[in-house]
Amino acid sequence: MSIDRVESLVYGVEDLEACVRFLEDWGLEQVEAGFHGATFRTPENQHVVLLGVDDPALPPNLEEGPTVRETVWGVSDEAHLKAIVDELSSDRDVVEDGNGTFHSMDDAGLGIGFRLKDEFDVAGSEPVQNFKEHVPRLNARIDQIDRPRPMRIGHVVFNIPSTIRETAVSFYTERLGFRVTDAVTGMGDFMRPDGSTYHHVLFLAHRDRDGAPARIAFNHVAYEVRDFEEIVIGGKWMRDRGWDTSRSPGRHNLGSNLHWYFACPLGGEIEYFSDMDRMDDDWETRHWDEPPVVNFWKAEIVL
Ligand SMILES: [Fe+2]
Repeated sequence: MSIDRVESLVYGVEDLEACVRFLEDWGLEQVEAGFHGATFRTPENQHVVLLGVDDPALPPNLEEGPTVRETVWGVSDEAHLKAIVDELSSDRDVVEDGNGTFHSMDDAGLGIGFRLKDEFDVAGSEPVQNFKEHVPRLNARIDQIDRPRPMRIGHVVFNIPSTIRETAVSFYTERLGFRVTDAVTGMGDFMRPDGSTYHHVLFLAHRDRDGAPARIAFNHVAYEVRDFEEIVIGGKWMRDRGWDTSRSPGRHNLGSNLHWYFACPLGGEIEYFSDMDRMDDDWETRHWDEPPVVNFWKAEIVL
């Protein structure tokens, strides 16, 4: 019984046409289109829902402009879904929408939802790299690609004020069973739900800005691709279509993931990533009194 992954992200957007074009370039599949919104999905069947920023169906906006308005978590089974609903109903509204999703709020005021996970099995997408006697690709050539199709939504990141750090994080750890992989004073808490081994699936960043606590805001979403080659090909594809890099390709320290970030018309940033650290139940939370270096390396030339 577990929360396994981000099942869908619901955005309130301003320029729907630009957002649709952006997600098509990013490599997602559009499954619905309409005057009032659009829906995309990953190969593993996580949905990205776009609605107008003023759509009354959306949770309240905690910041100006386009942004993520709700993070829906995918739950492994009915019993656990019911247990979550019962737990949260003890001190807040939890509303079912008739389509199997239960909507509520976390303790920072961010919109959250829960539904049964509906994951597609995508076989044959593993990285294959020959090195010396390690030869998984014998008598076979590389399959050349023009652009990547990001496999899955890996993680989401929100900025929160440092003043509510403990309240915001303990909601996920004590009420929903998330584990903290790295707890970094002055930076944030990297968390994974109980059904995931990824270093982080949710990161609540609490960096102060100009000496003042940060405002609540969506920071970024990250999509997993096969390897660094797909990051480079995907980033080049986006740049060639006029989208702007926001953080150069590199490798993070905490999480170890390779990355390339873009500014995103849906709000916040968006990241291609691969090769993230994975943790099982043997991992003990690392506590940092001050933030370590963010990147092991970064290719400054691309900006
Ligand atoms: Fe990230």
